[in-house]
Amino acid sequence: MTTEDRIKLRRVVIDRLDSWQQAGVLQVPKAAARIASGDIPNHPSEFIEPRKTQREAESRPALPTEKAEPEITQSTKELTPAMAKKSGWQAEKTTSLFESPKAAANSPAGMTLEILQQQVAGCTRCNELASTRTQTVFGVGDPHARLCFLGEAPGADEDKTGIPFVGRGGQLLTKIIEACKLKRDDVYILNMIKCRPPGNRNPLPHELSNCRGYLESQLDLIRPEFICCLGAVASQNLLQTTISIGKLRGKVHLFRGVKVVCTYHPAFLLRSPSFKKEAWEDMKLLMREMGVDL
Ligand code: URA
Repeated sequence: MTTEDRIKLRRVVIDRLDSWQQAGVLQVPKAAARIASGDIPNHPSEFIEPRKTQREAESRPALPTEKAEPEITQSTKELTPAMAKKSGWQAEKTTSLFESPKAAANSPAGMTLEILQQQVAGCTRCNELASTRTQTVFGVGDPHARLCFLGEAPGADEDKTGIPFVGRGGQLLTKIIEACKLKRDDVYILNMIKCRPPGNRNPLPHELSNCRGYLESQLDLIRPEFICCLGAVASQNLLQTTISIGKLRGKVHLFRGVKVVCTYHPAFLLRSPSFKKEAWEDMKLLMREMGVDL
C-alpha cells in the first residue's frame, strides 16, 4: 500500500467514524472498529464463498463521505452503455448475495446495521416524536441490496409493527417491487425519518436533519447502487432541492455516486391512480438502469 493510499484510507476511516458519531454511535465493538479501519474486509464478497453471478466487489465502491451535494443530473439519454457497463449493471444479478436473510443479517454490514438500529431505538433527539412513537422503524431487507426504496416516515401501521411500508401504501409498494420481478427481501426499504409524525403530518425540517445522520450511516453500510425515492418529501430531502416531484421523476439523479430515481409515493398513487402509469414508467427506467429485463 502506498503512502497516498494510507492517507486516503485514514481519511475514509475518520469520515466513517465521524458519520457514526453524528448518528449517535458512541461505542463500536472491536469487530466493527476493525472493519472501519480496513483491518478486515468490509465487503462480504471478500470472504463469503461467491456465487456464480456475484457482482464484482469493485462495482460497489463505498459511498463518498463528503456532505450530500445534490447533482441533479443527466437524463438517462446521457448515460451511455459504457457508463452502464462500468457500473457493473448486470441483468442476471437481482437477488441477494446471501443464501438466507439470516446469513445476510449475520454479515458485517448486517451486524453493524443492528448496532445502528439499537442506537436509533433509543434516540430522543426529537422530543415530540420520541414521546409519541410506539417504536422506531429502522428499515428492512437485504443489508447488501443493490436497490433501496426510500420513503418519508412511518405511518400508524409501521409505528405499530416496527416495519416500514406495511400499510395500504406498503402493500402497493410490494406489488410494484414484484412487478419489477423482485421480492421485498431482495431490496432494502427505509424512510427519511425513523419515527411516526403524529397524525401522519409531514416530517418537520429539524426532524429530517436530526435523522439525517442515521440515514446516511445506513446508506454507508448498505452501499446500494440505486435508490428509489418515493414521493416529494424523500426526493427533495435526499437531493436537497425544492424542484417538484413531477419534474424530478423520469430522470436519473446522483446522490454521492449512487443513482437515484424519484417517483410518486404509493399513498399518493392510491389516492390518484391515474398517476400509476408515470410511476410504472419510472420503474421501467430504474430496471433498465439496473439491467433487469421486464
Ligand atoms: N409511508 C412512508 O413514507 N413510509 C412508510 O414506512 C409508510 C408509509
